Amino acid sequence: MSETNKTAKITLGEQSYEFPVLSPSVGPDVIDIRKLYATTGMFTYDPSFTSTASCDSAITYIDGEEGVLLHRGYPIDQLASKSHYLEVCYLLLYGALPNAAQLEDFESRVTNHTMVHEQMHRFFTGYRRDAHPMAIMVGTVGAMSAFYHDSTDISDPWQREVASIRLIAKMPTIAAMAYKYTVGQPFVYPRNDLDYASNFLRMCFAVPAEEYQVNPILARAMDRIFTLHADHEQNASTSTVRLASSSGANPFACIAAGIACLWGPAHGGANQACLEMLREIGTVDRIPEFIARAKDKNDPFRLMGFGHRVYKNFDPRAKVMAESAKEVLELLGVENNPTLQVAQELEKQALADPYFAEKKLFPNVDFYSGIILEAMGFPTSMFTPIFALSRTIGWISQWKEMIEEPGMRIGRPRQLYIGETFRDYTNVEDR
Ligand code: ACO
Repeated sequence: MSETNKTAKITLGEQSYEFPVLSPSVGPDVIDIRKLYATTGMFTYDPSFTSTASCDSAITYIDGEEGVLLHRGYPIDQLASKSHYLEVCYLLLYGALPNAAQLEDFESRVTNHTMVHEQMHRFFTGYRRDAHPMAIMVGTVGAMSAFYHDSTDISDPWQREVASIRLIAKMPTIAAMAYKYTVGQPFVYPRNDLDYASNFLRMCFAVPAEEYQVNPILARAMDRIFTLHADHEQNASTSTVRLASSSGANPFACIAAGIACLWGPAHGGANQACLEMLREIGTVDRIPEFIARAKDKNDPFRLMGFGHRVYKNFDPRAKVMAESAKEVLELLGVENNPTLQVAQELEKQALADPYFAEKKLFPNVDFYSGIILEAMGFPTSMFTPIFALSRTIGWISQWKEMIEEPGMRIGRPRQLYIGETFRDYTNVEDR
């Protein structure tokens, strides 16, 4: 961030105030209004933050108009095709691609932290069997603060590092355990000889009764799903993590807050909602009916997996995901999958419709991810937990960046109060 010689002038009646304009390394300039209240006595009003940069960050850059997503400068399509998830984790966390020795060391540290404290098993069994795995994840990840006391002191860089590695390593184990519990199968322990994605697939789908061979094609597709969801700058769940962390809360509690936020259908819950919608549409001939509903102002229905707060062009992750969906279904011999056919035709018809063109609504990352996950054998309830485990690295990297910043202060948005003004309390018998 650098100061420009530009300023922004605000005129209030007779009085004018000037504010500095800051330049990012790429993207639009921002007006620095940190002294606005002190100098004018006024706040800005920006519910849902459509015009507000809440922090400076060097991790991820999005150009929503052009459909560009860069992690530490590297475009997501290059990372998805040439790199792999743990390398991207290293990149996001430490700021540069690792050399071979650094990567080996990082992978080994993650691999050696994949088991969860044995006593945590009992935590899982406290839930009802029909609990949503996201409900289990919110609770158990928060509960990690009760198990890993030696990595909750956020003022200690070593403890922060250990907490980061623990979260990256244990999140797949926790997600897989949440799944196993809801289907009534025994938990499967992680295996250190498998890569991150293969290990997750095995923990989800192996049973003690028989050998489980991880399909390398599915492992690669799983890894790509993790990579495509790794970070997305200041989205709702990441901002939640940052805000929770700003109070000094421990990392496990903050990541649990991020998981809670991600659960909603407008955010991480959209991949589950999208597949349910595609199934409800069922056949290609019913698509016009659903498109008409999405356009009807009196109908709350929206096309799930379409639209994005930032992307006003193709979500670059959706392009990779669409290719991956085709590839996986072909390899599994289910290329005639009716859900994929509905998705492809729905995308075509919506993109040709002026309503979606005018509002710049394009498929987002969730439009195709559910189809791949379903083909792999995951129930829809696991889609959002998989998003949560993938996004954990983004949350941790943003958390780490924020804590390392000198002069971090608690986040405290202001409000435009529209309630009652002063009034005297009346006793209950007088009301
Ligand atoms: N289907 C139909 N119309 C839509 C859709 C949609 N999916 N998305 C937005 N619109 C319309 C709105 O009705 C609104 O119309 P109006 O201007 O006539 O009132 C206009 O487009 C703008 O929509 P907003 O809700 O104001 O846009 P916002 O930026 O707040 O919302 C969001 C973005 C939440 C993603 C929205 O597009 C949506 O609900 N999409 C479906 C859910 C989804 O796929 N979420 C996943 C997001 S990606 C992620 O979290 C990884």
